Amino acid sequence: MQPFFAQRFEQVEPSFIREILKVATRPEIISFAGGLPNPHLFPVKELEAACHAVLSEQGAAALQYATTEGFAPLRQFIADRYQKLYGMQVDPDLILITSGSQQALDLLGKVLVNEGQDLIIEEPGYLGAIQAFSVYQPTFRPVTLQEDGLDLAAFDALLAAGTSARMFYGVPNFQNPSGVSYSAENRRAIAERLQQHDLLMIEDDPYGELRFEGELLDPIAKLAPNNTVLLGSFSKTVVPAFRLGWMVVPEWLHKKVTIAKQATDLHSNAFSQQILHRYLTSHSLDEHLQQIKEVYGRQRAAMEAALERHMPASVRWTRPEGGMFLWLTLPAHISAMALFDEAIKEKVAFVPGAPFYVRPEIQNTLRLSFSCVDEATIEEGVQRLARAMQRML
Ligand SMILES: Cc1ncc(COP(=O)(O)O)c(C=O)c1O
Repeated sequence: MQPFFAQRFEQVEPSFIREILKVATRPEIISFAGGLPNPHLFPVKELEAACHAVLSEQGAAALQYATTEGFAPLRQFIADRYQKLYGMQVDPDLILITSGSQQALDLLGKVLVNEGQDLIIEEPGYLGAIQAFSVYQPTFRPVTLQEDGLDLAAFDALLAAGTSARMFYGVPNFQNPSGVSYSAENRRAIAERLQQHDLLMIEDDPYGELRFEGELLDPIAKLAPNNTVLLGSFSKTVVPAFRLGWMVVPEWLHKKVTIAKQATDLHSNAFSQQILHRYLTSHSLDEHLQQIKEVYGRQRAAMEAALERHMPASVRWTRPEGGMFLWLTLPAHISAMALFDEAIKEKVAFVPGAPFYVRPEIQNTLRLSFSCVDEATIEEGVQRLARAMQRML
């Protein structure tokens, strides 16, 4: 038959990163492209035991349909963790378990975004958020990220100029793609503006617990709880395959997002919620995270050292204190897309920065991921990248 599509889906682009990964996963290529957590750190044996325990103790009950809000003991665990980490009071009844934080983005788009309405987003921004929100056809209004967080002058200028935006999306810890974190001061300033302008922030935080340097900083949700939806995820702290994340919503939003979740999938995988909860309560998450942070911290240090050694003086990069990514800015005349082709000839891959912008004109940035590459391979990969770059300079 003649293909046909809903209008709202005509403009939605395929994930460019998935296309890149097809090239980057060839075995001869050193890949800094993927944004994957390191599989050597997955607690496989522990999850096997947890799975066995849930099935043998709960039997058929573990396999039944369950509530839309999510497994209550898991929601309680999340609330307790906010208390422990930040001294933050979170009502477990305002936590909704989602199928990864990616689903939270979709549900929030569904419930809160009108076609043509402004949506404020950091620039560069998380590609998965741009894609998820695009389905609901907002007009993206980008605000630049700086070394210490959001460019407040640009944020103020946008708000002063008048905007139909009711929402702002940002990733305050070790942002994907840039590795940038918002400083404590930046967070306070944003919280004030959310309240002053009656804006809702979608505070997406899958990396906050992967801090290998510096001090934990309070979520913006602690400072302005009625003006934030705080998203979390077990993808980077335990495993992504369970597809388990959550959102902490203000009370006024809870009923509507629950209905949206019900309409979308009834509930997230109830079996994996129980296995995860079993794992979390029979092992120390802190000890597990310590291992992840040690490995990522070492690899980040190796990448920084290799960049110092091999990159031309005209290249700049961010210094993330956690997470999985580091962001390079090339001289303005060099296109990271063109560099990608040269780099593939040298058998090294990265993600060009352009797709992370909602304005197409910025071409000279790129993302490097250090989570899955050991230190010796990082050194070799950065040397290869430097060779490709030299040819273009
Ligand atoms: C900033 C950000 N948000 C959300 C996600 C989605 O994570 P998940 O759906 O696995 O929880 C990712 C994954 O890379 C991410 O980087």
